[in-house]
Amino acid sequence: MPADRPRAFSGIQPTAGSFHLGNYLGAIRQYVALQETHDAFYSVVDLHAMTIPQDPAVLRANTRLATAQLLAAGLDPERCTLFVQSHVPEHAQLGWLMNCLTGFGEASRMTQFKDKSARQGAERTSVGLFTYPVLQVADILLYHARHVPVGEDQRQHIELTRDLAERFNARYGDTFTVPDVHIVKETGKIYDLQDPAVKMSKSASTPKGIVNLLDEPGVSAKKIRSAVTDTETVIRFDPERKPGVSNLLTVYATLTGRTVADLEAAYEGKGYGALKTDLAQVVADWAAPFRERAREYLDDPETLDGILAKGAEKARTVAAETLAAAYDRVGLLPAKH
Ligand code: TRP
Repeated sequence: MPADRPRAFSGIQPTAGSFHLGNYLGAIRQYVALQETHDAFYSVVDLHAMTIPQDPAVLRANTRLATAQLLAAGLDPERCTLFVQSHVPEHAQLGWLMNCLTGFGEASRMTQFKDKSARQGAERTSVGLFTYPVLQVADILLYHARHVPVGEDQRQHIELTRDLAERFNARYGDTFTVPDVHIVKETGKIYDLQDPAVKMSKSASTPKGIVNLLDEPGVSAKKIRSAVTDTETVIRFDPERKPGVSNLLTVYATLTGRTVADLEAAYEGKGYGALKTDLAQVVADWAAPFRERAREYLDDPETLDGILAKGAEKARTVAAETLAAAYDRVGLLPAKH
């Protein structure tokens, strides 16, 4: 893992169960590509998942399930550092320092928190959810990550990270790397099959609109065949006027590496039925080896846990050094050993 490469960090919540096409094409594919150009750290952020109530057995199972899918999608423990957040205690420790540096008003302005707590009501909202963004700040700063691939919804959290890094550095001396705001381009944005006006997302729609990567091929094929399109018959990429067909073309093009123009030409004079049948096959061909690999990791938890143990060890080497510097800077008395 060459040290001269720029550092990247991203966190993935282990709450999804099966990843869906939107997760894969929108984010995970980029994580896989970044392994080649960056010194990349990826964390399954179980401590973040706990900010809303979790069944203990489900949380544990989902943590392995998320890891198995990340490995199946192509994250390679030889080329990146993949670990579970709670295996590296420095996240919670630096999180505390960052909590003490964050203004109450500042945290109160985080829009994701405001939206979620408004939906749930204050009494059912944990203080953990309130400080969620601050823990995310610690995640990023521990690894001196400059590059943090996230979607638009995370922009405010990255800006908070920059603010707190700069505040700490100004108050206590240069300690943290200030990350760039790098919002992942929406080229890979995938829409709901039943409502192509909204992003494909677990929370936003009926299960019919979401293609889960671990589903049986027959289930996914049926969803693709019943995708909402329009009343024309021409297969043309036009997200404004033909969002359904355009979405299918995006998925097809990204999974096969073909261009949209090439697909438009290939499907000239053919109907939506042909496009959907072929796309169902493309998805099935892509998902079969993915499911197989994920299954292998899940059937062999010892290997999977071993990969995570190595990842945590690599992560801790970096995280412990950063935390020690921060503890020293703020004036915590070193423990003697
Ligand atoms: N908040 C992120 C999300 O919901 C997950 C996350 C936690 C994260 N820590 C992170 C992303 C650090 C990037 C960097 O998607």
